[in-house]
Amino acid sequence: MTKVLINQKLVDEQEATIPYNDRGFIFGDGIYEYIRVYNNKIFTAKEHFERLLRSANEIGLDIDHTVDSLTELVKELVVANKVVNGGVYLQITRGAAPRDHRFPTPPVEPTLMGFSKSYGRPFKDMDQGISAVTTKDIRWLRCDIKSLNLLGNVLAREYAEKYNADEAIQHRDGIVTEGSASNAYAVKDGVIYTHPINNYILNGITRQVVSWICEDEGIPFKEETFDVDFLKNADEVIITNTSVEIMGVIKLDGEQVGNGEVGPITKQLQTRFNHYIDTRCI
Ligand code: PDD
Repeated sequence: MTKVLINQKLVDEQEATIPYNDRGFIFGDGIYEYIRVYNNKIFTAKEHFERLLRSANEIGLDIDHTVDSLTELVKELVVANKVVNGGVYLQITRGAAPRDHRFPTPPVEPTLMGFSKSYGRPFKDMDQGISAVTTKDIRWLRCDIKSLNLLGNVLAREYAEKYNADEAIQHRDGIVTEGSASNAYAVKDGVIYTHPINNYILNGITRQVVSWICEDEGIPFKEETFDVDFLKNADEVIITNTSVEIMGVIKLDGEQVGNGEVGPITKQLQTRFNHYIDTRCI
């Protein structure tokens, strides 16, 4: 029986219910994290939970948790569901209250919900590469907050689906921001370019790992904006996130990227990523 976390308690899936007027459900008024599990352990827990606490702070949501208490909760979930390799989803909303756009006063208890999934590492796609399409970024201006409001992301991802692509890489007025659920990179002449950290993108944890790898391997990592044309003429295009890790994009808007194979820099990043799995799991 799959166990789900509801407000600090592990319950059977069938009993995992949320009140009809929870603000996460009504307004998307909450935040979340998605964290990877490798060999029963949690990858980059500190970075994920610090980002969760930051997201909560940015939306004025008071949560009675620390990096350590959240790590413990997620560990319980991983043990209860015997997750060896997989992921954990954790969301916290502003709680259940009569529908009113204003924050409830006094505040109500936030609703915490978490579940886990078991799956292996995507080695085949990592070797063979994936496809992407470009699309307009129609999302709000606080993409740095990992909020439950993902309608813009969902529509972008569905656009990719319509064109048989694996991911949609978004742009604002031609400037590449990020994927529907990933950070995006262009490699040109041995240099990795990616959008700087600001309100237009999520500060991806895998992106942070990529920056550590670049430091280790002496690969120039430039946090600079670039446009769709630059992306299309890149030697390599990469996307990263917690579940797919580091993925080479070999087809973009139906055209071959570089020589149409996963490139050497992408492979170098993928290889060194294993070092961080070995050293950053707790
Ligand atoms: N999403 N940008 C967006 C919009 C994302 O949704 C994600 C991750 C990322 C990459 O962040 P990270 O490397 O920390 O996973 C960037 C997760 C996987 C999700 O929504 O399930």
